[in-house]
Amino acid sequence: MDVAERGACRPRIAEPMVRIQGEAINAKDFGARLANRLNHLIGLTPVDRVVHPHAVLQSTAGLSDNQLRAIRSYFQHREKIDVSLSATTSWYGGDYMEFGACDLHTFRNMLSAFHIAALPERFPDTRFYAFDVFGKLDSPNAEWQAEMSRFDERTGYFKNQFPNGDDLPRHQAMIEQHGLFVDRCHLVQGFFEDTLSDERKAAYRAEGREIGFAFIDCNFEEFYLTVFKFIFDLMAPNSYIYMDEYFQSSGAAHYFDQFRDRLRDERGIECMYIRSAGGFGGLFRLRPVRTGLNFR
Ligand SMILES: C[S@@+](CC[C@H](N)C(=O)[O-])C[C@H]1O[C@@H](n2cnc3c(N)ncnc32)[C@H](O)[C@@H]1O
Repeated sequence: MDVAERGACRPRIAEPMVRIQGEAINAKDFGARLANRLNHLIGLTPVDRVVHPHAVLQSTAGLSDNQLRAIRSYFQHREKIDVSLSATTSWYGGDYMEFGACDLHTFRNMLSAFHIAALPERFPDTRFYAFDVFGKLDSPNAEWQAEMSRFDERTGYFKNQFPNGDDLPRHQAMIEQHGLFVDRCHLVQGFFEDTLSDERKAAYRAEGREIGFAFIDCNFEEFYLTVFKFIFDLMAPNSYIYMDEYFQSSGAAHYFDQFRDRLRDERGIECMYIRSAGGFGGLFRLRPVRTGLNFR
């Protein structure tokens, strides 16, 4: 089992605290926050800040942990923006489905990227689905519930992300606030093992719909497998798959290899690698296999 450790918190040494508008923070962090805000106002990103005019990284020796973390985090998120922009730049239709969507950063990337690429007029029917527990950690299936409870006792994965229970309303409010294609966004709450059901698949197919982009960001290889089983016969012949742990999780990559072989053998669709995101994620393009062409 693999877990992506990106962005993991580091232990901190106690420092003198100051209180700003009721919030206790140390002076160094306050300085860093102020610098970030000013840089943001003048359009300078955390990465730009450390790039020398000759396009090499300056020394980061004097930067605080928070400043270093801001650069890392900015870089990782920026890479995922490029994934959404790449897919929307050559869009072939179908729905967007994101598996693992809490905080909706990448989901909202996609809404904006779709808008930027002037796709709403050409593809007025595209829907945007986000699948996640969104804080609902119970399952109607007793057996699955017991398994997930054991999983969470061992890893703390879901409980740590959602310490305050149901988080769906906050996510719905984010979609409203983003203000793009609100009526076409569907947040599907629950464990994949419940929501990615045969019934949902049959109903979706009966509507004649297909997936144009499956964006998978669910950290654990076994959940990747659940997603691959669901999307296998729903992927449009021309479409995209992104896996946020492709280069980090040998298990997710292995399941994808098997998925890819079956897609070629059973559906005549091949998967071409397009690009990485930060050396952790991988974007692939699906297209029908061409036959009858011979190079002589
Ligand atoms: C890294 S976060 C997603 C971040 C999101 N893509 C973004 O960038 O804003 C991974 C999410 O996957 C969800 N997830 C993982 N396994 C799941 C499962 N089996 N069922 C439902 N949600 C799952 C978790 O709840 C978590 O919120």
